[in-house]
Amino acid sequence: MEPTKIADNIYSVGVNDWNIRDFHGYSTHLGTSYNAFLILDEKNVLLDTVKDGFSKELLDNIANIIDPKEIDIVLSNHTEMDHSGALPHVMHRVGEDTPLYCSKMGLKNLQRHFPHKWNYHAVENGETLSIGKRTLTFMETRMLHWPDSMFTYLNEDKILFSSDAFGQHYAGNEVFDDETQDAIMLHAKKYFANILMLYSKKTIKLIDKVVESGLEIDMICPDHGIIWREDPGRIINAYARWCKAEPKKKAVVIYDTMWHSTEKMANAVVAGLYDAGVEARPFNVRQSDRSDIMTEVLDAKAIVVGSPTLNNQLFPSVADMLTYMKGLKPQNKIGGAFGSYGWSGEAVKYITRELEEMKFELPVEGLRVQYVPGEDALAQCVDFGREIGQAVMAA
Ligand code: FEO
Repeated sequence: MEPTKIADNIYSVGVNDWNIRDFHGYSTHLGTSYNAFLILDEKNVLLDTVKDGFSKELLDNIANIIDPKEIDIVLSNHTEMDHSGALPHVMHRVGEDTPLYCSKMGLKNLQRHFPHKWNYHAVENGETLSIGKRTLTFMETRMLHWPDSMFTYLNEDKILFSSDAFGQHYAGNEVFDDETQDAIMLHAKKYFANILMLYSKKTIKLIDKVVESGLEIDMICPDHGIIWREDPGRIINAYARWCKAEPKKKAVVIYDTMWHSTEKMANAVVAGLYDAGVEARPFNVRQSDRSDIMTEVLDAKAIVVGSPTLNNQLFPSVADMLTYMKGLKPQNKIGGAFGSYGWSGEAVKYITRELEEMKFELPVEGLRVQYVPGEDALAQCVDFGREIGQAVMAA
């Protein structure tokens, strides 16, 4: 990625990771970017770095603008290695004594990641730093999504450097929202569903606080994907909507199958849901990636899960999906459990337990069918789906 001027004396100097397809378990079908920013003023600031392995590209991008040795301040909004991995190379090149600004938790976490005795400056929430004609304001955003996470606001330019928030795992030649198609919102939605959903309550509080404070934002620069300059309100409003977990009349039927019996049940459940007026779609967990399924879960009201029983247990792929979903804490959902079995049939009981632990409302008792569902059993599955659909429509 070529360095790009995003405002007067402010440059995007990060890199594209075109070929990454698995970001710690999150499927990145179009890669991702690790964004970093260079602000030139009386004190030149490098804001965030990139993943290790891309250090040379980052330093080359900076060198296209200034000699990296002219950087006076390095600023870390977030410790996770996709943004800090290049720090040892950067600090070596810029100068090991260069002040390294971070949050208080950032200080602790960076010290636990790197053995180097860098010239740390831990900042307070709301603290400001003059860099010449411009002032940076630091905003602690703990657990959005790590304890060390913070935003940095550039007062005079009204630019919010938002770390992971408002990001998208997307690598492209486009830099700004107005250069992309609407599809970018799908990447932003997937990012929220898989990274931030479990912090929805904190996120909405932060958004409300920012709105109440009247903070003017002309541009949002996240650490992944495109920059929001045409309409930053669009992504802020989308986050507010996603945080409030106000789902559509939509159902996601998640299942795996051994000999197509649970699959037949899943398709009949979908037919019943649709019959009740609910948009519904089946997802076989071995054909769809769990992070894509979670994107669908985000705005669905009903999550219906099916599993065969294997060795008295849930089918492992379904257990994997349930574990992943539970960690992301979806709110305000209706659930249902079903599955085919041979002789013991515990899977439906275990799915029900997981859905109850996620505090899903379960309007219908779990449905089990022994071996291959015949006509009557499939009709029962349609009824089961219809009843869940009616609960969705009544919600
Ligand atoms: Fe993009 Fe939390 O790192």
